[in-house]
This record gives sequence, structure tokens and C-alpha cells, in this order.
Amino acid sequence: MNPMRPRRLRSTPAMRRLVREVEPRASQLVIPVFVAERHGGISSMPGVRRHDLDGVARAAERAAAAGLGGIMLFGVPDDADKDEEGSAGWADDGILQRGLRAVRGAVGDDLVVMADTCLDEFTSHGHCGFVTPDGRVDNDATLGAYVDMALAQVEAGAHVVSPSGMMDGQVEAIRAGLETAGHTDTAILAYAAKYASSFYGPFREAVTSTLSGDRRTYQQDPANRREGLREAELDLAEGADMVMVKPAGYYLDVLADVAAVSDVPVAAYQVSGEYAMIEAAAERGWIDRRAAVTESVTAIVRAGADIVLTYWAEELASWMK
Ligand code: PBG
Repeated sequence: MNPMRPRRLRSTPAMRRLVREVEPRASQLVIPVFVAERHGGISSMPGVRRHDLDGVARAAERAAAAGLGGIMLFGVPDDADKDEEGSAGWADDGILQRGLRAVRGAVGDDLVVMADTCLDEFTSHGHCGFVTPDGRVDNDATLGAYVDMALAQVEAGAHVVSPSGMMDGQVEAIRAGLETAGHTDTAILAYAAKYASSFYGPFREAVTSTLSGDRRTYQQDPANRREGLREAELDLAEGADMVMVKPAGYYLDVLADVAAVSDVPVAAYQVSGEYAMIEAAAERGWIDRRAAVTESVTAIVRAGADIVLTYWAEELASWMK
């Protein structure tokens, strides 16, 4: 028998711990949180809620106490506040801006406060940008709105703005807008490689999305690996401080590609559908919930993520103690 026996290094729990390559840390986890006018549950995301302003402040305090790295805020306006352009997205009293103020008021600088910079929650048609009369999502016309939205978010207290609409040139436009306004310390976390994924389904319930149709003219085709790298390289060239791959678990090849070339931290977003599937299987007793959650996030870190956005962030942190 060949003396090469890899099992030697698996012989005891202590040995396995010694040789373990990665272990998710609380400080690299970011919890996505929904802020709405009224709190409420989300049936396809058991354990996740829409928070009102008081609730979102408490959620931020819990995230800070758990030692998490950050919080990513999504705004859920009332339907009556949605319009063609998504103007509640950049209004000073829009729900996301009020949520950001509540969160910063609660946690100050103890937690990195991030804002999703995208119009889809705020538009009546549910697209991530302005729609032309013939039904196209207008790239260049949308960029100005993203800049206005980013500025409103920074003024409301965001440490990090996160353009997620997949318009070409969005990072460059936001960077220029921030510089002009003197916000030279605001970081941009770019959703660089974002695929048109069926795994966003539960999120669309969470934000009461009005979208009919799909986002395939701006989000990427799940079949394309090279294109993920290209998107990340463009965002790096445009001045992104961090780049993200999304979804995470089914796109580990893209994540590894991006991690191999990025000279800035790489984030991965374990999205709502990835969450919902494990929750649903665990509820039926078909899978060991805690083991599956831990394994799913460990795999994302192993593939090269420096930062992981996950709805399990707080619970994962509690298991690390
Ligand atoms: C767009 C956005 C989406 C998600 C995060 N930002 C939805 C979409 O692109 O349709 C999905 C996140 C998730 O599924 O958890 N603002």
C-alpha cells in the first residue's frame, strides 16, 4: 500500500481543526435587512422579516452585538409611493433613507452600514432602471438616478453604496458623483457579476416586487462564466472598492475567477432562494439545517469570498461563540 494516506489528517477533531483551511468569521458576514413602512413576515423566507423604522434600528443593534461586519439595507416602499422613475429611491424622506438614518442613529460606526443602490423596489414597473416607451431599460438615462440615489444614501448615513442594477458604467458614474459632492470616503461595493437568477424569487416577495417579465437584458445569462470576470474587471477599472458575485452558491466558479484577479475585497451574496431552499428542506426534516447552513457558507468562503452576505449571518455568528 502506498504510504500516502490523506486520512491521517482527518483522524481526530483536533487534527481536522488544525488543518482546516477556512472558517467563516462573524466579522466577514453582512446581514441583508428589509425596512418598510410597516413590519411584517415574508412567507417564502421563514425567519426573515420586513422591519419598520424601530425594528430596523433594533436589528442593526443585534447585528453589531453579534460581531457582524455589516448590514445591507433594502427599502420597501408602499405601492402608493412607487412611480415610473422610482423617485422614492432618492427622496430624502424615502423609506430607505429613513431606514439608514435609524440604523446609523442606533449603531454609529460600530457596524458598516451599506445601502442597495437600485431602483427596482421603487419603480411601478419593477425594473432596475428607466423604461422607454418601447419597453427597453434605458442604460444611460438611468445612471443619473443611480447617482442621485447614492448621494441620498450617503447623506442619510450609508458608509457603503452598492449599485446592483447592472447598468453599464454605473460604478464610474456613482464614483464621479460622490467625488463631485465631496464624499471621498464613501466606498462602493459593486454588484459586479449579477446573474438573472430564479433564486431571487423569495426576495421579490420580500420587497413586494411589481416586476412582470424578467431582467435578462441587464442581468447576466447564467450560462456565461467569462462574462462574470469581464464585469468584475470593468467595475474594478471604474473604481469599485469591493466587487460582488451574486448569487453565491451556484456561481462558485465565477467567484473563484474573480477572487483570483481582484486586488480589492470580493463579496458573495447568498441570495433569498439559496436561503429558502435549505429552510424548506430542513423544515421537512430532509436535511440537517445547521450543518447545511454552515457548509453552504463555508463553501462560499473556500471559493474565495472575503465577505459573505447571508440572511443567516446573525445565527451563524451565534454558533461561532
Ligand atoms: C435588486 C436586487 C435583487 C436582489 C438584491 N438586489 C433582486 C433582483 O435583482 O431581482 C436579490 C437578493 C436576494 O434574492 O436575496 N435591487
